[in-house]
Amino acid sequence: MDQRPIIIALDFPGEKEVFQFLSQFQEQSLFVKVGMELFYSTGPSLLAKLKDQGHHIFLDLKLHDIPNTVHHAMRALAKYDIDIVNVHAAGGSAMMKAALEGLEAGTVAGKKKPDLIAVTQLTSTTEEMMQQELKIHGTLEETVKAYALLAKESGLDGVVCSPLEVPLITEACSSSFKTVTPGIRLLGDEKSDQRRVTTPGQANELGSWGIVVGRSITGAQDPLKAYERVQSEWSVSK
Ligand code: C5P
Repeated sequence: MDQRPIIIALDFPGEKEVFQFLSQFQEQSLFVKVGMELFYSTGPSLLAKLKDQGHHIFLDLKLHDIPNTVHHAMRALAKYDIDIVNVHAAGGSAMMKAALEGLEAGTVAGKKKPDLIAVTQLTSTTEEMMQQELKIHGTLEETVKAYALLAKESGLDGVVCSPLEVPLITEACSSSFKTVTPGIRLLGDEKSDQRRVTTPGQANELGSWGIVVGRSITGAQDPLKAYERVQSEWSVSK
């Protein structure tokens, strides 16, 4: 797997749009993220097609249910050739451990288990919304740190968080604990629904392990050029 990948969020309605988009990348091997919209509309056959083209896959389905259900769901997902999969840390330690056990049980012999990471707080969540609507009374940073520690104690490989929270998580959980960070925008791009955003260069400086970039690439006039801009900001050594 790529070291410190740039993961492109394929937030498209269907397979036709995905392959039209990917055709602009001149057969480069990419790291792509398949989320709910795409997976629910195309089904798992898309994953094999992406693998056949040489891409790495983050399957971003953010499972969150009772431990037994998540165990069996992960066991089923493990048979696909994916590199990263995730759950919501808010499901708690028993659910995260069940997810990990399901993933291990379902991984085909001789294959590497996909990395299992947990969403701490969505990058669209503000502290005010978290406190007033979700009734979580700590600060956003305290909550993210506590969820990351819980994910680590549950045996997970890392978390999804904002780049702004990476230094805190790395300090609490160790530098080998992976931080996958969405909420990335090139300078001048719209934030849209995201709140806790940074540029790829800032995410690099803050120490993100990998970044997830959607609309700054998929919505650009020239996606390949936008990807190359992200690459040049991201590959500057820390
Ligand atoms: O277009 P944009 O760069 O905002 O896309 C970000 C992607 O990362 C979306 O697919 C979104 O579902 C995902 N994501 C996120 N925040 C999280 C977890 C995943 O934005 N905490």
